[in-house]
Amino acid sequence: MLAVMSDARSPSGPQSPRPVVVLDCDPGHDDAIAIVAAAHFTDLAGITTVAGNAPLPRTTHNALVMRDLLGIDVPVHSGADRPLVREPKFAPDVHGASGLDGADLPAPTTPLDGTDAARFIIDTVRSNDGIWLVPTGPLTNIALALRLAPEIADRIRGISLMGGGSFGNRTVMGEFNIWADPEAAHVVFDAGVPLTMAGLDVTHQFLATPARVDRVRALPGQLAEVLADLLVFFSATYGEIHDDGALSGGAVHDPLAVLAVTHPSIFESVDRRVDIETHGILTRGMTVIDERTVRARAAPNCAVLTTVDADAAFDLIHGAIAHYSR
Ligand code: RIB
Ligand code: CA
Repeated sequence: MLAVMSDARSPSGPQSPRPVVVLDCDPGHDDAIAIVAAAHFTDLAGITTVAGNAPLPRTTHNALVMRDLLGIDVPVHSGADRPLVREPKFAPDVHGASGLDGADLPAPTTPLDGTDAARFIIDTVRSNDGIWLVPTGPLTNIALALRLAPEIADRIRGISLMGGGSFGNRTVMGEFNIWADPEAAHVVFDAGVPLTMAGLDVTHQFLATPARVDRVRALPGQLAEVLADLLVFFSATYGEIHDDGALSGGAVHDPLAVLAVTHPSIFESVDRRVDIETHGILTRGMTVIDERTVRARAAPNCAVLTTVDADAAFDLIHGAIAHYSR
């Protein structure tokens, strides 16, 4: 892997230093799980929100709800309400109109800390050595930050993103986070920052099976009940979208981008050059992964995650949820 932490937190408990992280997200059922993982396993400097699974007001609302449910003191800054160039595309077929359908969610009680995510990202990168950016939605905020302050690229330890893969989920080759804003993804993949990519090839190995949902629901308290209900809804929409038997639960994509930073030993990866298709008719938003064995291939810019120990990953997520369920 191009840029990894040593396991920042073994299952037995915290180890120092925990990676400093900004989580940029579009909650989103799997983003909600990523928030729990980031809160538990990282030094979470902030959460930024972006339009993606739902419009920005909804993804921001949902991030504030998750902050309250976890009872954490982490700033939340909203960001881009649309892609750099394209018209906004949302995913109500997967996440519902609210972005977090399927659970009885409390109203947020804490205020938003700001509305300029790109500026927050820039300031936080400038004030923290070795920081990671972990985007789990369209890359608009990250691209805007890199465009506004290109020099931050040298200060970022790595960008561990959920997105892309060798196939798509919005189109044959377009995975939602990249497909929704391919121009932003091009900026990020071309910025020279060490990248780790949790694409669909690895995230479809991490499924919210009924047995795993039951383990979450068995935990005490409101958070576990909400997350179990969200995973049931999420898995049901996956079942409607995919062939019978194709997946034994919703693919819980986003927390893998967090765990790739905090627990890299549960993954395998290959270093590859990855570029973004921004003009294709059939291939808009494709992550073009150079798998060739020719000497003339371009130098890698990305650690492409290929496998995950799904049981280990779920045990970590379960432990994180349990930590906030006491
Ligand atoms: O394609 C899956 C990705 O798109 C996940 O991050 C999901 O939350 C949506 O943002
Ligand atoms: Ca997401």
